[in-house]
Amino acid sequence: MAMGTITAAYIASAILFILSLSGLSHQESSRRGNWYGIIGMTIAIVATILNPAVNSYGFLLVAMVVGGAIGARFAARVEMTQMPELVAILHSFVGLAAVLVGFASYIDPNAQFEGTAKTIHDVEIYLGVLIGAVTFTGSVIAFGKLSGRVGSKPLMLPARHWLNLGILVACILIGNWFIGADKSAGMVALIIMTLLAFAFGVHMVMAIGGADMPVVISMLNSYSGWAAAATGFMLSNDLLIVVGALVGSSGAILSYIMCRAMNRNFVSVIMGGFGTTSGSDEGGEDQGEAIAISAEEVAQLVGDADEVVIVPGYGMAVANAQHPVSDLTRMLKDRGVNVRFAIHPVAGRMPGHMNVLLAEANVAYDLVLEMDEINDDFPGTDVVIVIGANDIVNPSALENPNSPIAGMPVLEVWNAKTVIVSKRSMATGYAGVENPLFFRDNTRMLFGDAKDSVDAIRQAL
Ligand code: TAP
Repeated sequence: MAMGTITAAYIASAILFILSLSGLSHQESSRRGNWYGIIGMTIAIVATILNPAVNSYGFLLVAMVVGGAIGARFAARVEMTQMPELVAILHSFVGLAAVLVGFASYIDPNAQFEGTAKTIHDVEIYLGVLIGAVTFTGSVIAFGKLSGRVGSKPLMLPARHWLNLGILVACILIGNWFIGADKSAGMVALIIMTLLAFAFGVHMVMAIGGADMPVVISMLNSYSGWAAAATGFMLSNDLLIVVGALVGSSGAILSYIMCRAMNRNFVSVIMGGFGTTSGSDEGGEDQGEAIAISAEEVAQLVGDADEVVIVPGYGMAVANAQHPVSDLTRMLKDRGVNVRFAIHPVAGRMPGHMNVLLAEANVAYDLVLEMDEINDDFPGTDVVIVIGANDIVNPSALENPNSPIAGMPVLEVWNAKTVIVSKRSMATGYAGVENPLFFRDNTRMLFGDAKDSVDAIRQAL
């Protein structure tokens, strides 16, 4: 394929990726956004394969078949609840690829640069390998934490900020040595920096606790984008630069949005240390008795209500309760009850987790409202049904300044007339924080698996 055609194909792909991102930002257009992304990526792969620089098709075919088969197998097997860990491990591949491409570019005998061009090329390699190495080990640790293979408590080494600062200063000094060094000295510098960056990635994510993991995943997503962009510079591949920049900036924007949703400052997230159960969360105080309720009583309550709000959380995903929830919604709507859904920005375990599940169960988009759109409506709501949610409806976030989740905006469900909480036990949620909501006078606990409970309410209705 002529270079002009390849450039045109790359421009078409870049436009499709931008359309894809804008499509993915709204539920109604998200399917279309996915298709734009798929078509853009197909064009990009075909154009890359047909690039005249590619001369080893056998090798490429084997790599694509093996990689594609592994990817398809994992994608088919992964549970919705395991999606964040899949995303984390995929980011680690991007990071590792950037490291490998950086080393390959450095030892490439065909890459003959002189003067300023050499300095620029060296900087590209150094930055690409640095960001890639941090992304690689950081993502592997994030994968370990999310999948329970590594403890979710933050690792608090003494003088850890000094350690991080020391590594940063060392990387800058080594970078100064690397740029302009001859090949063998440069290789030593590159290897030392890579090892330091690997250690930094491990330490950075080990220091971050469970409750901040979603932000870390999207931050690593952003890093993987910048690593890809740096790789694009190394390989003089414009599409990789554009795509890397899109991923890098969208990941950074998402991290910012999530920090705002959790009332966390981005720098304090990166500094780590949050997510332990330290701090007073009222766990030790006697909060009184939680009152249980039966599915039949809940059916009676919601059947007689005018306004019902359903708050889904991680437990709905675990129980796979979205289909019965959707059926329950239809039944109540048929009886003239106004049913709506309230979605917290960090409900579940990944951005948009609840929206995806509700869309899968054919819940109409216009019934699904964001936290800011519905929080003021709770005082006028007859019944709120909290299905497998905990942290996102915890009043101590607003009322207890010592709570580990203090300041996190939450769905203020306790302002409704009656709150039904469907969960299996009195156990805490992801942040490990006790929830005083369960002990409020207007709260009733519907114990059991969320799917069984919702099915029982439907039966009783
Ligand atoms: P959580 O606070 O984790 O609470 C989920 C609750 O679901 C648990 O208390 C659990 O109680 C219940 N549950 C589990 N399995 C169940 C089942 N089969 N049936 C019924 N209930 C079940 O969830 P949330 O309220 O959605 O809040 C999300 C939390 O995850 C936040 O702390 C957030 O920061 C964090 N997080 C979010 C993300 C993103 S981006 N969304 C990513 C990672 C972490 P029982 O064990 O008693 O049933």
